[in-house]
Amino acid sequence: MRKKVIAGNWKMNKDIHETVTLVNEIKERLNGLSNNKVDVIICPPFTSLVIASGLIKGSALKLGAQNMYYKDEGAYTGEISARMLKSIGCEYVILGHSERRQYFSETNELINLKVKQALLYNIIPIICVGETLEERESGVTKDIVATQIKGVLSGLTKAQIDKIIIAYEPVWAIGTGKNATPEQANEVHQFIRKLVAQLYSWDVAERLTIQYGGSVNPQNAYDLLSQSDIDGALVGGACLKAESFINIVGAATQIYN
Ligand code: PGA
Repeated sequence: MRKKVIAGNWKMNKDIHETVTLVNEIKERLNGLSNNKVDVIICPPFTSLVIASGLIKGSALKLGAQNMYYKDEGAYTGEISARMLKSIGCEYVILGHSERRQYFSETNELINLKVKQALLYNIIPIICVGETLEERESGVTKDIVATQIKGVLSGLTKAQIDKIIIAYEPVWAIGTGKNATPEQANEVHQFIRKLVAQLYSWDVAERLTIQYGGSVNPQNAYDLLSQSDIDGALVGGACLKAESFINIVGAATQIYN
């Protein structure tokens, strides 16, 4: 069975003081869980990354950022590079989140450049795809997801596919409390895996981690994570409290028991 990967996307929440509290609480609760089958990642805002990096040393927690720019360095006011993230211990970066696509006009082409840059620095990109409600209702979910996958993975080698994570996040399920049913989500996950198999090979597709994201909480996590092709969760709202985040991690560990 593929490893489950649970990542908490803090979005624009928690100042540095709140970060210290939350990371310490998560660490404490994580201690009681046998989690060698489950990777747990926290993705705080940029301003909290350095302090979080120090706090998680010696724990099982891993660190991710929520965005980065694709250039090495230079006159790009307000941006953060992959090298900067690497230098503070970030092993992951969320790229192409639907909020980046919606509010900051990120395109598949731009996300593809960022993915390549992250990989250059050995940072694992968590690449987000997913349809809007309108797209789902008009029956084009798979077309939309296929276009996104082909666009964001364009030019990547087979070896690079082993170093990425895909997060399927239906836009209508993000922050709405309306999660996709486990079956609905799994159907799209299987579609993504099949597409990656067509573009690369079955062995690469079989190893690919595909997370589900969109209103994951401690109540629905087990059912979602028990599906054949759901290999983890990208958690927003429920990751802002240590208890609910760790209960989701707990649901993932239960699957192996
Ligand atoms: P949510 O967010 O869990 O609050 O729906 C998920 C995400 O945006 O990654």
